[in-house]
Amino acid sequence: MQVSFADRLPDGDFALVLPADRVDADAIKALGDGPAATLKLQRFDGDAGSAVELFQSAGAKRLLVVGTGKGIAPAAAAEKLGGTVVARLLTSGAAHAVIDLTGLGYDADAAARVGLSAALRSWRYDRYRTKLKDKHKPTLEKVTIVGAGAGAQQRWEQRWQPVMEGVALTRELVTEPANIIYPETFVERVRHLADLGIEFEVLDGAAMKKLGMGALLGVAQGSVRDPRLLILRWNGGQDGDAPLALVGKGVTFDTGGISIKPAQGMEAMKWDMGGAGAVVGAFKALALRKAKANVVGICGLVENMPSGNAQRPGDVVTTMSGQTVEVINTDAEGRLVLADAITFVQRNYKPKTIVDLATLTGAILISLGHEWGGLFTPDDGLATQLLSAADTSGDKLWRMPLGEPFDRLIDSPIADMKNVGPREGGSITAAEFIKRFVDDGVRWAHLDIAGMAWSDKAGSTYDKGATGFGVRLLDQFVADTAEG
Ligand code: BES
Ligand code: MN
Ligand code: ZN
Repeated sequence: MQVSFADRLPDGDFALVLPADRVDADAIKALGDGPAATLKLQRFDGDAGSAVELFQSAGAKRLLVVGTGKGIAPAAAAEKLGGTVVARLLTSGAAHAVIDLTGLGYDADAAARVGLSAALRSWRYDRYRTKLKDKHKPTLEKVTIVGAGAGAQQRWEQRWQPVMEGVALTRELVTEPANIIYPETFVERVRHLADLGIEFEVLDGAAMKKLGMGALLGVAQGSVRDPRLLILRWNGGQDGDAPLALVGKGVTFDTGGISIKPAQGMEAMKWDMGGAGAVVGAFKALALRKAKANVVGICGLVENMPSGNAQRPGDVVTTMSGQTVEVINTDAEGRLVLADAITFVQRNYKPKTIVDLATLTGAILISLGHEWGGLFTPDDGLATQLLSAADTSGDKLWRMPLGEPFDRLIDSPIADMKNVGPREGGSITAAEFIKRFVDDGVRWAHLDIAGMAWSDKAGSTYDKGATGFGVRLLDQFVADTAEG
């Protein structure tokens, strides 16, 4: 869907969208008493996210009045506004929507964010729906935002359109089933990132074996799909500045392995690569907007399968760091993949900061539901920065505790550690496991996004399905902290 900005209402046929703040404004009054009476009849109160559609009003075939809420900051209102409009009009028959922001006092950024939320909400993936009825197909091709003031078009093109493209890539990868996207094809699907100036490097299983990545390879061992380690570099910052490292869990399907999961709901585990998906989506956004930052991205891509060759509960593996792990539960595989990916990035790129993203534990859904991603870090400064980026971007985070009493719970009688603790505090012991692989002096945060990568119901910027969680957060974090 195309987003553009204009000074005045265009000619031709379009659905006119007026924010509720303008219900008393001239634009509505000019339509006569009918619309105002209809709004009243429908008990429209201007709440953010609400909308009422009126037909055959003067000058436009359809008129959509949308609520923007009261006392909501323009940035937050903008987010709901664009999404509400698109949710209502996407398959409505309308091809063009014009959102008139005149007199609302939105600055260029807030107006461009209306465009962002509109574009994000329009994303869908119909590749495999060959029998979709015409009336269920999207009709909306274009959104024009009017009355936004100078600079909105530029702000859109330079900042938010890149982010939208990044989120779209993540959603596509997360949506694709595991027979289509597995380690090798994940890499092929994102190889076009190299055309944007991103350095692109790939290790296969044999190369990882030479490096001693026994934890990641132990997970991959049961699958006929060879694992991959994808390494991305964006060098938009000062030469020699230590990079930010983004590390993603990319389990392209998680059956649990020999510690197999119940059949009910297992199909959800196609999106167990949501962390890796967010990393490549963020890279796409950063490259498209030519971010002035040095960033390295690592995706640990494996399929976790049971088979005659799969790793067994009780196996001891040696990680790239040299530390040994007793694999009590083969379903706690994400932390094994992350451990070696983190060692790899520290050895080769000496990052100042590492942020890892992973659909790591079911326990985080018990703690935070689908409202927040879990943030784990021992570094208060880094926590503040990530929480602030979360607030600004809309990808919400909640800080969770870490601490020695939790670390103790993963000691093993036979190896340096085991890969699971007790059920209680399961997300925290998982984070403590990863922490054991982070070198002294490196700032590190872990984001458990198991509750956020996928949504069973539509939100203001996504339909049900893949959300692209993490891309906007990482983009904002880079903008806030790594770009001068
Ligand atoms: N990928 C799952 C976590 C998950 C669960 C993500 C539900 C999204 C929705 C992860 O690999 C896993 O299986 N974790 C186990 C850990 C346990 C064995 C300690 C879990 O959470 O049950
Ligand atoms: Mn698992
Ligand atoms: Zn998993």
